[in-house]
Amino acid sequence: MEKIAIASDHAGRELKDDLVGFMKGDGKEIQDLGAYDDTSVDYPDFAAHLAKMVSTGEVDRGVLVCGTGVGMSIAANKFRNVRAALVGDVFTARMAKEHNNANVLVIGGRVTGKGLAREIINAWHNAEFEGGRHQKRLDKITAIEDDWSK
Ligand code: RB5
Repeated sequence: MEKIAIASDHAGRELKDDLVGFMKGDGKEIQDLGAYDDTSVDYPDFAAHLAKMVSTGEVDRGVLVCGTGVGMSIAANKFRNVRAALVGDVFTARMAKEHNNANVLVIGGRVTGKGLAREIINAWHNAEFEGGRHQKRLDKITAIEDDWSK
């Protein structure tokens, strides 16, 4: 069964909790890394926890939620092998998988409603990476990660 981790800060906690229930009901193995209440916390801590798990292969993919999704995406994309996409519509969710093979989906909890967020999750889950010319482009991103002189 596919392993998926999910995490949020306080601003994304309510949407994150909704998505945990939604994805569990869809037969996936979900690891909820918090936040578990509305105490103010720092999004880089949660992004780093999840992104490390994706980077090392401990989980297959991840979902991050903060207020806008911006901070979580910036932090998660610092990790090798992590391709985090901030998504607010269904078309981009599909493209993020088909063209970018995004392994972390980021949603803004203060921006995107629960219904749309569920559709975004479905579109991303159901899409397949197309490979080919898109793989060549991802290889160029990996080369940037490998280039310590940049
Ligand atoms: C928290 O107030 C907010 O800054 C955070 O959730 C996120 O939107 C940052 O990008």
